[in-house]
Amino acid sequence: MPIKTLLKMGDPKLFEVSEPVEKFNNPELNELIQDMLDTKEASGGVGIAAPQIGINKRIMIFGFEGSVRYPNEKPVPLTILINPEIFPLTDEKIEGWEGCLSVPGMRGMVPRFKKIKYTGFDPQGNKIEIIAENFHARMVQHECDHLDGILYPMRITDMKNFGYEDVLWEKITRVATPEV
Ligand code: NI
Repeated sequence: MPIKTLLKMGDPKLFEVSEPVEKFNNPELNELIQDMLDTKEASGGVGIAAPQIGINKRIMIFGFEGSVRYPNEKPVPLTILINPEIFPLTDEKIEGWEGCLSVPGMRGMVPRFKKIKYTGFDPQGNKIEIIAENFHARMVQHECDHLDGILYPMRITDMKNFGYEDVLWEKITRVATPEV
């Protein structure tokens, strides 16, 4: 299965609002999802959205068992989520470090809702409805933003907390995650 080229920040396709998926459970959709899975796997990312491989469809994949990129975070099951919607369950936002395969080598501190409900569909068209907190909720909000043409640097509130991974790494790994 082909590993696709990841688009990087600056590519106009990353700033587009993506179109909803209308037909489920078909070879074209399955092939696209397989490409996303392969590309996510090869890159070591915890999440990927279709626009990152140049397809402006509302499809995202996230989840990991243990991540080198996010060593402090609890595992999240691999989830393929199509046409997602997010409903904040609290007004509370928490700050946390994020990185992105489309912004290689960098990290930034981003505020996100602490607790959300998200809905969407799996590739067969079955409804998904999950309540998530902390990093799980953060990941879903980050990926969902990709479908609306938003990259995490656009949400950073203090640009002093945006920089190169190798410079920030000690700071990032020293931060205990809120749920552990
Ligand atoms: Ni990203």
